[in-house]
Amino acid sequence: MCGIVGYVGTKNAAPVLLGGLEKLEYRGYDSAGIAVINDGKLNVVRRKGRVSELFSAKELKGNSGIGHTRWATHGAPSESNAHPHVYKNIAVVHNGIIENEFELKEECRARGEAFASETDSEVIAHLISFYYEGNLLSAVQSATRRLKGSYALAVLCEEFHGIVCARKASPLVVGIGQGEVFAASDISAIAAAGVDVYALEDGEFALLTDTVHFFDCNLTQIRKEKIEYDAEEETPDKKGYRHFMRKEMAEIPEVLKKSVYDFTVEAYREFYGVLKDTGQIQIIACGTAYHSGLCAKYAIESLCRVPVEVCIASEYRYLNPIVRAHTLVIAVSQSGETADTLAAAELAKSKGAYLAAVTNVAYSSLTRIADCVLPTNAGREVAVAATKSFNAQIVLLYSLASALAQAKGRQGCLTEITALLEKVKCAEEACEEVRGWVPHFLGARSVFFLGRGADYASSLEGSLKLKEITYLPSEGYAAGELKHGTLALVDSSTPVVAVITQRACADKTMNAVHEVYARGAKVFLITCFEEYCTRKEVSASVLIPACKEEFSPVLSVLPLQALAYYVSIARGNNPDKPRNLAKSVTVE
Ligand code: M6R
Repeated sequence: MCGIVGYVGTKNAAPVLLGGLEKLEYRGYDSAGIAVINDGKLNVVRRKGRVSELFSAKELKGNSGIGHTRWATHGAPSESNAHPHVYKNIAVVHNGIIENEFELKEECRARGEAFASETDSEVIAHLISFYYEGNLLSAVQSATRRLKGSYALAVLCEEFHGIVCARKASPLVVGIGQGEVFAASDISAIAAAGVDVYALEDGEFALLTDTVHFFDCNLTQIRKEKIEYDAEEETPDKKGYRHFMRKEMAEIPEVLKKSVYDFTVEAYREFYGVLKDTGQIQIIACGTAYHSGLCAKYAIESLCRVPVEVCIASEYRYLNPIVRAHTLVIAVSQSGETADTLAAAELAKSKGAYLAAVTNVAYSSLTRIADCVLPTNAGREVAVAATKSFNAQIVLLYSLASALAQAKGRQGCLTEITALLEKVKCAEEACEEVRGWVPHFLGARSVFFLGRGADYASSLEGSLKLKEITYLPSEGYAAGELKHGTLALVDSSTPVVAVITQRACADKTMNAVHEVYARGAKVFLITCFEEYCTRKEVSASVLIPACKEEFSPVLSVLPLQALAYYVSIARGNNPDKPRNLAKSVTVE
């Protein structure tokens, strides 16, 4: 949440900062601002709304500055709450949450200081100013010692040519180029400059002047290792598509080829050993990644008979979870930076679990704490709504199920997983048929998605996708559960999407279809069983290829993603940047 960028060099800082902020907009886009130092004076421009609202600031003069694009936590999206926050000679941009804001502000007020915003971040500028006695680095260190919560900070001071950065539980990287240095929330903001990149760890500081010096929490200078990254991969473009989301959906067939793993090969021997020994799996994740965990649960329990708990990371971290000897914990996170998933993963490790990380970002915080990293290799995902990363996560987790089955003396199923790759192409073509469904969803008061077993997991994901980018209220429901209350909400204005790919309970889900049809609802069906498509209760259907039933979400989710996308654009939304959301949720 929130994107930070900083620059010190010989160029005019403002255009560099604005370019970086545009790349970081996926982290939040409620408001934006930059501060630039010219002749020892801070010049600040802040605006409500997208980074494009700031373009008039391009003309600001000065070779060093900081910028911020905000996802509001404390205080409404407004110009006065936008960063940078300035107090006296200090300007600060912050990503994270300061949990002891209230006490600290009281302390500042007692000194006669007034606050100009409703944010928690502003108090950081006050504290740094209080501790500043001519050395910005030690003032930042003293201030951060007072903070509870999470922060990535970039700080400017009128009397200093440079930036001080600090990090705790919010990502921050530093880039060193020829005669210029950068700070950013992630590599994408600075990759195009072709710089060497270093990641700050919790408690570390960086001093950016003509070059960069790194320090530990006691301000002892330290050396750091460069991060390997692919500059092209970090600077994606839409390749002719109208939206990143559509482009990312189109990449799914190619992406999946890189997500099939053979855990018995040499590189994964140790992990295969862990699979052999484990008797309990916990999957921790949030949002779409949580749904991929649910899909994996159905496959792993069915194929391996090993119990799998799928836990919402924000719950797990506060529930004193039971971790036994040989518990395998799998943290699933596209970004590898989701604060709740990271905290849950750390907790699991502290309780003695073996931690495997399924993530799409090789240099993320999650990869740094995991015992074993399983990269999804989906390529950078820019759209806030996760699509290709979901499909990649489940195919990877199915490969894990296959290996686990083998490790437990059962039949593996890598052949069936590989067979999915061809079927995905056909399912993708079928997706275009959902465009005809769009008019029925445009003005709906609410939408239901129904399924059982693995179809229930797809339904949850279809519902999340729809509500996230169309703003239509929707719910994914276990088909048999509907009649226990929720059916009261169904009437002729309620489109219902039913997913039926599991033979054993197909007729049971059809019972729910009958029930909603009888209340006047229009039913839209996604199935691999042709016979259901022609039932009178079904208004329209998409026929997807049949596959090993445990793996069907890989295919059934494709029309659901497409439905959300087409309804979103028909409602005039930008599916890449849904309101109130951000791609990477680095706060609690
Ligand atoms: O980066 P992560 O996979 O940890 O992100 C988890 C969720 O924030 C994410 O999946 C979110 O639900 C998506 N916007 C859904 O499309």
